[in-house]
Amino acid sequence: MERTAFAFFFLLLIGLAFFMGPSAAQETAGPMTDATALLFLKDSFTGAGDALNSWSSSSTFSPCSWSGVICDSGVVTGLRLAGLGLAGTINVTALSHFKGLHSISFNNNNFNGQLPPGFDSLQSLKSVFLSHNAFSGEIPDGAFASMRSLKKLWLNNNQFTGRIPAISNVSKLIEIRLEGNAFEGAIPSIDISSLKSFDVSNNRLTGPIPATLARFSAASFVGNPGLCGPPLDSTSCETPPPTTQPSANREPPEKQSRLGTVIGALLGIVAAVLILIAVLVMLCRRRSGEEKNETVGFTASAEAMESAEVPSTAIPTATTTAGFVQKPQDQESGSKSSRKRSTGSTRSPAAATAAATDLVMVNEDRGTFGLTDLMKATAEVLGNGSLGSAYRATMTNGLSVAVKRMRDMNRVSKEAFEVEMRRLGMLRHPNVLTPLAYHYRKEEKLIVSQYVPKGSLRYILHGDRGAAHRALDCPTRLKVALGIARGMAYLHAELAALDVPHGNLKSANILLGDDFEPLIADHGLASLVSVAQSSQVMFAYRTPEGAQHRTVSPKSDVFCLGVIILELATGKFPSQYMNNTKGGTDVVQWAASAIAEKREEELVDTDAAGPGAPEGMVRLLRVGAACANSNPEQRPEMLEVAELIEEIVSAVAGEVEQS
Ligand SMILES: *[C@@H]1O[C@H](CO)[C@@H](O)[C@H](O)[C@H]1NC(C)=O
Ligand SMILES: *[C@@H]1O[C@H](CO)[C@@H](O)[C@H](O)[C@H]1NC(C)=O
Repeated sequence: MERTAFAFFFLLLIGLAFFMGPSAAQETAGPMTDATALLFLKDSFTGAGDALNSWSSSSTFSPCSWSGVICDSGVVTGLRLAGLGLAGTINVTALSHFKGLHSISFNNNNFNGQLPPGFDSLQSLKSVFLSHNAFSGEIPDGAFASMRSLKKLWLNNNQFTGRIPAISNVSKLIEIRLEGNAFEGAIPSIDISSLKSFDVSNNRLTGPIPATLARFSAASFVGNPGLCGPPLDSTSCETPPPTTQPSANREPPEKQSRLGTVIGALLGIVAAVLILIAVLVMLCRRRSGEEKNETVGFTASAEAMESAEVPSTAIPTATTTAGFVQKPQDQESGSKSSRKRSTGSTRSPAAATAAATDLVMVNEDRGTFGLTDLMKATAEVLGNGSLGSAYRATMTNGLSVAVKRMRDMNRVSKEAFEVEMRRLGMLRHPNVLTPLAYHYRKEEKLIVSQYVPKGSLRYILHGDRGAAHRALDCPTRLKVALGIARGMAYLHAELAALDVPHGNLKSANILLGDDFEPLIADHGLASLVSVAQSSQVMFAYRTPEGAQHRTVSPKSDVFCLGVIILELATGKFPSQYMNNTKGGTDVVQWAASAIAEKREEELVDTDAAGPGAPEGMVRLLRVGAACANSNPEQRPEMLEVAELIEEIVSAVAGEVEQS
C-alpha cells in the first residue's frame, strides 16, 4: 500500500520535472525534484571527472537515464556509483529525498572521514555498499538501527575504528562485511538467523568469538591476533594470545600490514612441527650422504620430481631442506647462498622457528622474498574464488604479489604439494602465470604469484564495463583467445602427466596484462584438491563427461576453453558458471543451434567491433562451438585450437592490410 503510494507520488514528481525541465525545477522553490536532489548530491562530490556528465541540469532526459541511477517504474531505487574516483562528501539530505532508495553503492571510491552524518535517516535502504574507500572514525551505535530493511552492509576495506556498532536490531541482515578495517574490542553478539555471510577478518578485534557467530568459517575471523575460540582452530581462549604469537607481538601490526598479522598468527603453531621436521631432515641427510647435492639446488631436485611416480622417501628430503632452513635475514642475499649457509646444525631454536615458517621460492624471476617481507607489505583483500581467498600484498621494494590461501587442500601431503608447486614454478610461457613461492603447513597453504592489475577476463567482460571493456574490440578479443589457446597448448604439453592439466579453466582464471595479453592462472591444481571437492569446485567437472561420469581428461580443458571462446564472442555470461542453473546464457546450446541455423552473426557481441568484425567473431564462435562439443572425442586438440585461432587472426590482419 505504502509503496504504491510512494511510487505514484514519484511518478507524478518525475512527470512534473519532465514537463518543467530539470533546470526550471531547480530554480523553482516548490518540492524538490529527483533531478535537483541528484544535482545537490553531485555537487557534494569531487573527483567525478566526466563520469557524471549525464547528471546535468540541462539534460532533457529523466534522471532515470542518468548514469548510475537505477529506477523502478520511474522511482529512483538505487545509485550505483562504484569505482568513479569520487571523493568529497555524500550529501545525505539530498539522498534522503529518495524515499524508495533501496541500494547505494559507493564501493571503490576515495571517500574519507566519518560515515556521513545523518546516514541513519536513509531508512529505506536494503543494501549499503561502501567498501574500499578511506572512511575512518567510529561508527555510532544507532547508525544502522533505523534501517529495518537492511540486508547487505558492506563497510569492508576502510579505516573505521572503535567498536563494531550494535546491529542486532537490524534483523533482516544477510551479509555483513567489515573486514579490512581497524575495528577493535569484542565482537558484539549478533544473533540474526537470516545472516548468511559475516566477515570481520583483518581488524583488531579481541576476545572470544560469540557463540552466535561460531557457525561462520575461520576465514571470517582471521587477521585479528586477539580473537580466540571456535571457529579459529589456532587459538583457544584459555591461552592468552600474546604467548602464541611471538612475531605479531614483537612488531605491532601497522594499520595496513594485516596480511602480516594473518600469517604471523600462524608462526607459533607451525614452529614446533617444523623444528621437528628440520631435525629429522638433517638426520636423514646425514645418513644418505646427500650433502654433496647441496649446490645442485632447486632445479635439479625439481627435475628429478618430474617423473610421474615419485619415490616418497627421496622427495621430502630434497624439498624440505631447501625450503625450510632459510633464515629470514638471509633473504636479500638470495636463497641459494642462504640455503648453503644455514645447513649447519648449530642454529638456535629461535632461528629455526623463524626460518621454518618461511616461504619457499619456486620461481626467482622477480627476485626472492620471504614471509617477513610479506608481513611488512601493505595488504588488501582481492576476493574469494572457488579454490580460496586472495590478497594483494605490496612489498616495500614495490613488488606487488597476489597471495592465495587455498581451501580444500587439507588432505594433501606436503610431498605432493611441494612436487606440484615446483613443477608449476618451472613453467615459462608468456600466457601462463607462474607461481613465485608457496608456504605449506597442514592447515594452511599459501600460493604467491605476481599481481596482475587489470584483473580477470570475467570482470572485464561482465564487470563495471569501464575503459578496459570498451577496449575489447574484435582484434583484442582474438588476441585474448589466441593467447589462452597458446598458453593452454603449452600446459597440455608440460603437464601431460596430469589427468586434466588445468582443470579449472574459466574466464575468472584468465588475467589480463596491460597489453591485454592473457595470463592463465590456477592451473595444475586438480590433483591437489580431494576428489570429492573437485567435483564441487573444479570447472572441468561441469563438462558433460565430468557431470555425468565424474571423468575428466585433457579434452575437458578443451571444453572449458570453448566456453570462454563463446563468452568472448557473444559477450554473454555463461550459465555454465552458475552453481544453480538459473541465470546466465547457455552459450554452448545457443551457439550450437545458431550454427545449425546459419545465423551465427546474430549472436556476436556488438561491442566486439573494429577491424575484422563481425566475421572474425563468427569464425571464433565456430571454433568455440567445436571445442564445446558434448563428445570429448570430437573436440579438437588444444594445439589445433591455437592453430585455428591463429588462422582467423592472420585472415583478419590480411583484410585490414588490403583495405
Ligand atoms: C545537500 O542537499 C540539500 C538538498 O537536498 C541542500 O539543501 C543542501 O544545501 C545540500 N548541502 C550541501 C552541504 O551542499
Ligand atoms: C533496539 O530495539 C529495542 C527494542 O526492540 C529498543 O528498545 C532499542 O532502543 C533499539 N536499539 C536501537 C539502537 O535502536
